[in-house]
Amino acid sequence: MKIDIPKHILCALDMLKANGHESYIVGGCVRDSLINKVPSDWDICTCALPEETASVFKNFKTILTGIKHGTVCVIIDAFPVEITTFRTDGKYIDNRHPETITFSSSLSEDLKRRDFTINAMAYSKEHGLVDFNGGVNDLKSKIIKCVGDPEKRFGEDALRIMRAIRFSAQLGFRIDDNTKKAIFSKKELLSNISAERITDEFFKLIMSDCYIDILREFEDVIKIFIPHFNSIIKDIMVKKDIRLRLAYALSSSKCNIDDVFGTLVVSKSLKNSVNTILLNQNTSIINDKYNIKKQLSGLGEELLSLVLEFKSYLGQDVSGHIDTMNKILINNECYSLKQLKVSGNNIKSLGVKDNTNIGKVLDYLLKQVISDNLPNEKEALLNEAKAYIINNKF
Ligand code: CTP
Repeated sequence: MKIDIPKHILCALDMLKANGHESYIVGGCVRDSLINKVPSDWDICTCALPEETASVFKNFKTILTGIKHGTVCVIIDAFPVEITTFRTDGKYIDNRHPETITFSSSLSEDLKRRDFTINAMAYSKEHGLVDFNGGVNDLKSKIIKCVGDPEKRFGEDALRIMRAIRFSAQLGFRIDDNTKKAIFSKKELLSNISAERITDEFFKLIMSDCYIDILREFEDVIKIFIPHFNSIIKDIMVKKDIRLRLAYALSSSKCNIDDVFGTLVVSKSLKNSVNTILLNQNTSIINDKYNIKKQLSGLGEELLSLVLEFKSYLGQDVSGHIDTMNKILINNECYSLKQLKVSGNNIKSLGVKDNTNIGKVLDYLLKQVISDNLPNEKEALLNEAKAYIINNKF
């Protein structure tokens, strides 16, 4: 078995070895390589103490912010390479961080402190694959299993609960029975974990292929951070777009729209998109040009497309709506103030001073154009504006 290691990582391993330090690639990159997935990052572990690592790479740019935890980050060919000393963790505080760590000269000690067997393997050209915890077997059997006692592992770092269900969804692996039991018995510990970390894992989970089964099976776990979460959703293919996936995951929640996200940390724009999708999921939209233009004007092209796509997931026939929308867009028909052939300044020059009234005139003109009562042409619009201004005594 041979793993293809990128050049900059090989360079770091070779330099450590040349200085007499045993070192390996470890964790996610070994797991992913064994299942023919391209690793997103490559971590190195070594018996060299952090100061020794820093000395090996003294002619390279290094970042030493993680040195307390044993990590030296070396920049090689413009890539950051993280090199961490073998370590054992002391007692954990706050269900997330070890109170103390002890550097070790033993790879097996280092692998023992890791979360899951499939993440607790190391590899080097000289030693080949090092697997003291049955990771290869569990990869073959497609199982997520804690290294050692699952309750202890989750007690040390409760984020591992989210990692377990996220890996299960991403890889399509089942979770070992004891590990699963511990996930449920330790789920409350998730309330000690930062909302940002949980959100990050939850988003990775719902962007995975097998997310629906996991949401169903672990509903009680999700409820720790999204109390109104309800997993009764049909198993359908939802595009891998975080707005659609999040809306779908939350679509069965029976609560006020403000409570739907629970403690998830969601950006304003994502929240706005998801709220719009959810608020429109069961409203009926009449399929004629006027109504679709009004929707386009209110939501914009991108959001209306998402709303319609979401409705199609719920079994609503919106193919006619999509045709109408596409025709409006292809013909560049006016549905927004931006496209109107007169501006606020044009209305101002007709003598309307007050901004609210200028807005009212423009809204009126847009409505006339959308209703096909008026062409979107400057002269016609200005004439109509004049009549409207007189009638309304602006
Ligand atoms: N690890 C752990 N406990 C955690 C987080 C990480 O034991 N709570 C260990 C695992 O051995 C993991 C390695 O640190 O493989 C690197 O962690 P990280 O880069 O966060 O995750 P990956 O396993 O690489 O997977 P992904 O990049 O998909 O998150």
